[in-house]
Amino acid sequence: MFEIRELAAEETHALRRAVSADGRTDLPTMHYELDDAGDSWHLGAVDPAGRVVAISSFYRETCPVRPDVPGAVLLQFMAVEPSVQHQGLGSAVLTEALRRLRSSGVRLLWASARDNAVPFYERFGFAAVENSAFIPLETGRPHHLILLQIEP
Ligand SMILES: CC(C)(COP(=O)(O)OP(=O)(O)OC[C@H]1O[C@@H](n2cnc3c(N)ncnc32)[C@H](O)[C@@H]1OP(=O)(O)O)[C@@H](O)C(=O)NCCC(=O)NCCS
Repeated sequence: MFEIRELAAEETHALRRAVSADGRTDLPTMHYELDDAGDSWHLGAVDPAGRVVAISSFYRETCPVRPDVPGAVLLQFMAVEPSVQHQGLGSAVLTEALRRLRSSGVRLLWASARDNAVPFYERFGFAAVENSAFIPLETGRPHHLILLQIEP
């Protein structure tokens, strides 16, 4: 009943604002500069009415703690519409994203994750980098850098 499909960057904006940006209305746009890069892509879930209910964005970006790994990918804006969280949608989107990354030869996926979502990522094999804790001023939410080595 939910379709997992690639999204245009613009289709992610509403959930970026509602969930990733905690509903902030003072941010003029949810466009992110890396959205314009040719190798950026977005995956999400769409409900039967066509509403986007889960989002995730993937950007070719060197990992700051593993600059030796070529072709690393940054995961950002992983979010599920609050009314349908904890029903497996985030897992379904991430599972499909990992399948795509693996088949295109990507070996490292990394993200800055909210600490309360780290257990979600750990289920997929992500590990938090030691001493990588930080709190973005904009949100005040504790984060860690997390890494996933993708086996061929
Ligand atoms: C984190 C998030 C993307 C997970 O998506 P989801 O569809 O809710 O997750 P799933 O149902 O696939 O979760 C599978 C399991 O991951 C774990 N999990 C999911 N969300 C979690 C959270 N916020 N905190 C801790 N564990 C979590 C749970 O073990 C969950 O199993 P459960 O449903 O039996 O509790 C989603 O909850 C969300 O958007 N949260 C708010 C925004 C956010 O934190 N985004 C990540 C920023 S880095």
